Amino acid sequence: MQRLVIEGDTKISGEIKVQGAKNSALPLLAATILGKTGSVLHNCPMLSDVFAACRILSYLGCKCVREGDSVIVDTANLTHFEVPDELMREMRSSIVFLGAILGRLGRCRLSFPGGCELGPRPIDMHISSLKQMGVIIKEEHGFLDCSIPKELKGAAISLSFPSVGATENIMLAAVLANGDTEIRNAAREPEIMDLADFLNACGAKISGQGGSTIYITGVKELGGCEYSVMPDRIVAATYMGAAAITNGELSLQQIRPRDLDAVTPIFEEMGCSVYPYADRIFINAKRPLKAVKTIRTMPYPGFPTDVQAIIMACLCKARGTSVIVENIFENRFKHAGELRRMGADIKIESKVAVIEGVPKLYGAQVQATDLRGGAALVLAALSAEGVTSISEIKHIDRGYEFIENSFNKIGAKIKRV
Ligand code: EPU
Repeated sequence: MQRLVIEGDTKISGEIKVQGAKNSALPLLAATILGKTGSVLHNCPMLSDVFAACRILSYLGCKCVREGDSVIVDTANLTHFEVPDELMREMRSSIVFLGAILGRLGRCRLSFPGGCELGPRPIDMHISSLKQMGVIIKEEHGFLDCSIPKELKGAAISLSFPSVGATENIMLAAVLANGDTEIRNAAREPEIMDLADFLNACGAKISGQGGSTIYITGVKELGGCEYSVMPDRIVAATYMGAAAITNGELSLQQIRPRDLDAVTPIFEEMGCSVYPYADRIFINAKRPLKAVKTIRTMPYPGFPTDVQAIIMACLCKARGTSVIVENIFENRFKHAGELRRMGADIKIESKVAVIEGVPKLYGAQVQATDLRGGAALVLAALSAEGVTSISEIKHIDRGYEFIENSFNKIGAKIKRV
């Protein structure tokens, strides 16, 4: 079992390039199978979740090779339509393979993804949308057996909530369906736009991405393309949080500042100066942090749930009382208990967290409870007095490329043991 051992009282400063986005790379890898030849994804982050997606592709019959930061997927010999249970369990988001496998092969069998560390994660919207497109879905013994007796057909689908995964699955199934599909109340996340841009580069006809209604006209077949995965806005926010909590200053490179429009004002409210320009953001946090008004997590373009834990870590050391309302996931405050072990003053009541800033956090033995919660503990540890040991770091490795290497380049003292 590996751990991160982090010396506290450090100051984060310097320049850092931000990795490619996990939450874009995963649907893009699934999308490659819709083309009959294959695609090359550049800026594809080296993460355990990306390796898990490549294992699924290999199982399905594709060849998946990494060269530097690129992943080359050859889909010519894709034959299998089943994803085994052990591969599904490695990564909850493997459900996004459902739409892609159905689009390419017209049949798919995979196990029900079930709950995860963020609470129950139903896929009812994925299922009902695909049913509207002519897919017959049988749920038995924890498996979803999906087939298309006639044809995959376009449909007008209204989502009751702008689910990222459901929007992706509908898009993946619709690009090769017969006729037009309209997704109303679609997710607007930048990762959705990345998926649409990739599919269009392969020959799909998608428009409206980034807005609440996405239009897709089915085409007969798709080819492949070379595509660069968008920068990871959540990792960028994590670096900003590291600069903020250590009163440091940092220049983030190769990012898209507009993707962080809901996050930047929160850092400014905490007292940081933030300067976005072109593909960079500079953050100067050389002042004590201040509490902020209530933060509510929302679908994009609102404040992202994935940055909630990061900001909570910073607010632990901000002067005054802050409130965070988590509206997206039922169980996304587990990190609060671990932050308390480090001296934080946080009270949780259902989906509301009240954070009373404290002057100091202290090194402790803590456990990463999930991916972003784990990153929040790294931030708290950087600013704490003494040494922190973080276990269960497999969660962190799902989304941060060698976190100790990148943070050590900007002033951290982190060892993996
Ligand atoms: N939901 C349903 N039914 C559905 C689908 C979703 O009730 O059929 C609920 C979920 O249970 C959740 C909410 O709707 O409460 C939002 O779920 P959504 O489908 O939007 O999220 P997701 O596709 O499962 C992606 C990211 C998450 C990110 C969320 C929200 C990937 C691989 N995952 O998940 O990222 O938090 O969107 O932005 O893209 C992370 O990176 O740490 C992470 C969890």
